[in-house]
Amino acid sequence: MSVSLGLPRVRRAGPAPSGAPDGAGLMDRHGRRATDLRLSVIDKCNLRCTYCMPADGLPWLPAAQLMSPAEITRIVGVGVERLGITELRLTGGEPLVRPDLEQIIAGVRAAHPGLPISLTTNGIGLTARAGGLAAAGLDRINVSLDSLDAQTFRTLARRDRLGEVLAGAEAAAAAGLVPVKINAVLMRGVNDHEAPHLLGWALERGFALRFIEQMPLDADHGWTREEMVTATEIRHRLSSAYQLTPHPGARDGAPAQLWDVRPAGAGAAVVGTVGIIASVTEPFCSECKRTRITAEGRIRSCLFSHQEEDLLELLRAGATDAELAQRWQAAMWAKPAAHGMDHPGLDSTDYIQPQRSMSAIGG
Ligand code: GTP
Ligand code: 5AD
Ligand code: SF4
Repeated sequence: MSVSLGLPRVRRAGPAPSGAPDGAGLMDRHGRRATDLRLSVIDKCNLRCTYCMPADGLPWLPAAQLMSPAEITRIVGVGVERLGITELRLTGGEPLVRPDLEQIIAGVRAAHPGLPISLTTNGIGLTARAGGLAAAGLDRINVSLDSLDAQTFRTLARRDRLGEVLAGAEAAAAAGLVPVKINAVLMRGVNDHEAPHLLGWALERGFALRFIEQMPLDADHGWTREEMVTATEIRHRLSSAYQLTPHPGARDGAPAQLWDVRPAGAGAAVVGTVGIIASVTEPFCSECKRTRITAEGRIRSCLFSHQEEDLLELLRAGATDAELAQRWQAAMWAKPAAHGMDHPGLDSTDYIQPQRSMSAIGG
């Protein structure tokens, strides 16, 4: 094992000290400005992916601690109207576990007709809900899918639900929730051999596949640098069937580095792109534009924060929009420069793993 555990400090009340300049939105002291809001609507999930959750799940938040649709609309409104937020992604846990997800989206959409709204989901239940989500105002969807093999899927997700995920991705496309992006985390000796097959499958369907380096955000604390499948290895795996060349155009703070894909062999034309999200070996923290709200309404300035600011408690205590905005600004001003996990000799003195697992942060 190579990481230790950091318990989050939660700021609950009192004035929010901040050096953030007035009117500058969600600036941090390192010169970045967050415009991309990732809001978790629930911590619960119906899968148990080994790189994220323990086999027995986690103690879920009581419903009363989750933000209501009206509270979510209010918080998004503060972000958009006062702090320069220009896009919203809804995450979980698994957001489709919330039966009122359509209501949440419709509320935000009614208040912000032009705001891009996307969803990151494991796809279970999408076949029945994709049309309703689109009608409520959702723009696009990212589906997590690590394997096309039922046995491997079961090993990774600890549930036998591959068919539902595949059907869910197709349903999202049919409902116009495009581009459908597919997120695949590769685990050594489990699904890393599937990389070219996953890419062929995605290209055939017009899905935008992205491979993700496993990050030390698993509840079981089993991550090791040696076991992590790196971006370099992913590109090498893909080279058995494809040629990759850097995709032209600005990355603009996006986690995924895009590559143009040609079938292996001289003279082949570009047939699509593939993304690689190399959070560990090729970090992109200096370009980060993200701010996060957890399912219980706390601000996290970074995936790897050890400090959270309780925005929902302030809201429920009757705070004005200006007071909520001030607390949010203060939290973001303190955003760390980088996650600190990009050291080749990573050990417990270099990197402290956040207490929350990915499912409790929102991906
Ligand atoms: P789009 O490309 O706009 O669809 O967004 P996205 O790639 O951010 O969305 P998604 O929710 O699918 O995230 C994909 C993966 O990127 C997540 O599973 C994380 O592994 C990784 N990721 C997302 N946000 C961050 C971040 O702030 N820092 C790091 N290091 N990784 C992130
Ligand atoms: N490392 C990288 N990605 C992760 N995800 C969950 N846990 C991890 C981790 N430890 C991804 C899921 C999903 C998104 C929400 O986050 O695969 O696509
Ligand atoms: Fe659930 Fe997503 Fe975590 Fe898998 S990665 S257990 S689908 S929250």
